[in-house]
Amino acid sequence: MKAELINESDIIEIIIYSCVAFLLMGFVLILFFYFSRKKIIQKELEKKDLEIQYQKELLSAVIITQEEERKRIAQDLHDDISSQLNIVSLNSHLLNTPNLTKDEVGTITENIINLTAKALDSSRKIAHGLLPPVLDKFGLDAGVGELCMECNSSQVVTVNYENTTFFDIKDNMKHLHVFRILQELINNSIRHGKATVISILFEDNYGLKKCSYSDNGIGFDMKNKDKQKGLGMKNINSRVAFLNSTIVINSAVNKGITVTFNF
Ligand SMILES: Nc1ncnc2c1ncn2[C@@H]1O[C@H](COP(=O)(O)OP(=O)(O)OP(=O)(O)O)[C@@H](O)[C@H]1O
Ligand SMILES: [Mg+2]
Repeated sequence: MKAELINESDIIEIIIYSCVAFLLMGFVLILFFYFSRKKIIQKELEKKDLEIQYQKELLSAVIITQEEERKRIAQDLHDDISSQLNIVSLNSHLLNTPNLTKDEVGTITENIINLTAKALDSSRKIAHGLLPPVLDKFGLDAGVGELCMECNSSQVVTVNYENTTFFDIKDNMKHLHVFRILQELINNSIRHGKATVISILFEDNYGLKKCSYSDNGIGFDMKNKDKQKGLGMKNINSRVAFLNSTIVINSAVNKGITVTFNF
């Protein structure tokens, strides 16, 4: 009878201890899930913060570039167009001077003609810099072709350009981003890479267009963050974002650079 009682109280004790142990385990598990969830949320928030920071950097790069572009256009207009038109205006007023000889009228008229031609040439160059007419009228293939020809005629670099796809002129707004990306890549290859050969290839890629770019320049160390402080690359990234695409850039010291993106 006594042994049975002991057994019973033992069993009750075991049950109580087991319950307490389960409760403790449950409590620990709840705590574990609570803290790991908190950690995950914290990590997600940090990731979102980084994304917002990156978007802000891209936006500020776009704004700074826009302002610099405006400054450059204002300077070009002021230095090239306004100054020439001022002299044209002065010369035109001179024509009103009484008792001018035929020779004097001839000289002043020639001055006006020359200066007007220069002003026209300057305005054409400024407009060309803003939006190359070939790109606007004949599309990306002709625009890039002309850009490469201009580079080749400078004798600084040889640009090999190949296109195996067709560009619809209706997509010109999209293509302007591609053109600007290539302009910046070529600038960088010449300025930083000291490249002598550049290759550009457009091809079809599973219903999209693919652009592959490479140079034979000095390249750069991708891990060096100081090398990524310019506005050019940030602008390229924001243009790629406009194209709903992603860009893959690879470079190493003395290995040149390769860049690919779809659009
Ligand atoms: N093709 C390249 N060859 C070697 N280094 C390059 C090349 N492209 C970019 N870089 C390196 O990456 C850096 C960042 O380029 P990015 O175009 O962003 O800025 P930047 O050209 O210095 O200035 P910005 O474009 O604003 O005038 C460059 O300073 C250069 O060190
Ligand atoms: Mg640059």
